[in-house]
Amino acid sequence: MKVSCSTSFPFLILFLFAAQSVVVYAGSFHKDVQIHWGDGRGKVLDNPGNLLSLSLDKSSGSGFQSHQEFLYGKAEVQMKLVPGNSAGTVTTFYLKSPGAMWDEIDFEFLGNISGHPYTLHTNVYTKGTGDKEQQFHLWFDPTADFHTYSITWNPKRIIFTVDATPIREFKNSEALGVLFPNDLPMRLYASLWEAEHWATRGGLEKTDWSKAPFTAFYRNYNVEGCVWANGRSSCPANAPWFTQELDVKGKNRVTWAQRKYMVYNYCTDKKRFPQGAPPECS
Ligand SMILES: *[C@@H]1O[C@H](CO)[C@@H](O)[C@H](O)[C@H]1NC(C)=O
Repeated sequence: MKVSCSTSFPFLILFLFAAQSVVVYAGSFHKDVQIHWGDGRGKVLDNPGNLLSLSLDKSSGSGFQSHQEFLYGKAEVQMKLVPGNSAGTVTTFYLKSPGAMWDEIDFEFLGNISGHPYTLHTNVYTKGTGDKEQQFHLWFDPTADFHTYSITWNPKRIIFTVDATPIREFKNSEALGVLFPNDLPMRLYASLWEAEHWATRGGLEKTDWSKAPFTAFYRNYNVEGCVWANGRSSCPANAPWFTQELDVKGKNRVTWAQRKYMVYNYCTDKKRFPQGAPPECS
């Protein structure tokens, strides 16, 4: 094969870059995560490591964290939430960096008394400051079956999806002076814990411990990202999530979810922001 220098050089670079950095996980709970909390209350339930349960009783909740850290990526999992009276329980799936000035991207499901809807709470923290809450009800019963939840985090935006429907886009608005998580590698976490005071509006509904242990299931964990190691991150070549944005259809889905299912939006909370909504809201 005859290849001129001018064409082989870029290909060689591309090849080295790709070979070094392609990390595609069809995830396994056995391989990819550590159940770091809960003293046996979290369990991987099958052998390839597709199914995991977390449980909560009066003495403790439980949780897992990814072995790897990522600086940008797409994290996806299927979850089946605590059924029945789940008031005061919080089931989570989120990205977080360590330290006091941390970054964090949250999915948190606040349980409710039987027959009343869960609240899906989303938030974004940068350098330890959150205050970007949007909350939703869901268009299905999240305890009846598994549903897919994903976070796409790239340099331009964060997209939250539910069963592939984008429900929220948090854009990088650094040009407007708004902080955006862009330099701290994050781990993936999931947990089931008790937050009676926070999750039920000041303890309005009590957790019914006679129903404990409470159990939530996670299935088909999948994270693809720019893996952080030795002080630098390696991104897979041409990863679609790295440049993902919302097309017209995606934007319409966000509008649909927000119009029909949003129950709280910090952008429209005039009591909190009497001088006007934060800049990224407009
Ligand atoms: C529980 O359901 C009621 C509606 O019946 C709703 O107003 C409330 O926000 C829900 N609480 C939580 C924590 O989701």
